[in-house]
Amino acid sequence: MNINIIGVPTFYGCDKLGPQLGPDKLREKGLVSKIKQYKHNVFDIGNIYVKEVNENEKLTSNPDMKYFETLVEINNNLAHVVNCSLASNCFPLIIGGDHSIALGSISGVSKFFNKKFAIVWFDAHGDINTFETSESKNVHGMPLASLMGYGHNKLKDLYYKDTKVKENNVYHIGGRDIDFGEKEFIKNTDMNMYYPQDLSKKGLDTIINDILDSIHSKDINAIHISFDLDFIDSKFVPGTGTRVDNGLTVNESKYLLSELAKSGLVKSMDLVELNPMLDINDTTTDIAMDLIDTIFKNLK
Ligand code: ARG
Ligand code: MN
Ligand code: MN
Ligand code: MN
Repeated sequence: MNINIIGVPTFYGCDKLGPQLGPDKLREKGLVSKIKQYKHNVFDIGNIYVKEVNENEKLTSNPDMKYFETLVEINNNLAHVVNCSLASNCFPLIIGGDHSIALGSISGVSKFFNKKFAIVWFDAHGDINTFETSESKNVHGMPLASLMGYGHNKLKDLYYKDTKVKENNVYHIGGRDIDFGEKEFIKNTDMNMYYPQDLSKKGLDTIINDILDSIHSKDINAIHISFDLDFIDSKFVPGTGTRVDNGLTVNESKYLLSELAKSGLVKSMDLVELNPMLDINDTTTDIAMDLIDTIFKNLK
């Protein structure tokens, strides 16, 4: 397969330094050769441009949403690059950066597949806040809501003016730090939520089969994986900014990713929230590499 690596070196969505170092950190660790060993053609097309914004200017564009205009610009450019990557018969692997970049990557995916795709979102958090429900006002807590058509116009109409994904085509796994407003939203949504207690009660194999059966029963041509490293239990991943207990192990995460990859439907992926400044002895970087290894080893 042809793979494009697309880095998005930004921390603007989480407002905490570190994730901007993610893409180059993984490159230094041998990202390209890791994927090449499985006979893929890898084209590293570099990083999306991230404009420098001074700390004291971060609120000037919009009174309350931090780095708002710049994030819109970054994501709009990213959406286009991802759309072009798919159109040129490549698999875009988007490396963050914080999770706000899923807004751009998935907008590009949505345009290419004409909305006939599913998202499998691995995360301890909902990322379904809007500006109104968010307690932190950080945009990395909002991308999934925006993609489903909720929130600020400039976010939900990014790249092209429409809802990017049907709620029922979203499969969210691992949520365990969900804000009050997000819980209210979940009560009325059609999106598919799989909490850690569901995973332990039913077993990982049952859950992943349920997800794949559900996707196969729909008119869907592709799966996009959005993997936030805080999906994994806090004790294994020091190098991510918003760690949460009660998550899965690395091996469990790899199992889920390999089953998805083997389905033959995975056409694009984000790997986000690696923070090398918080990491200890590259533990989290090595885990990120291991997850990527799993995907490209099993990709069909
Ligand atoms: N729910 C919190 C917020 O909205 C945390 C979000 C964390 N998101 C992430 N992509 N790590 O601020
Ligand atoms: Mn997230
Ligand atoms: Mn998260
Ligand atoms: Mn919270």
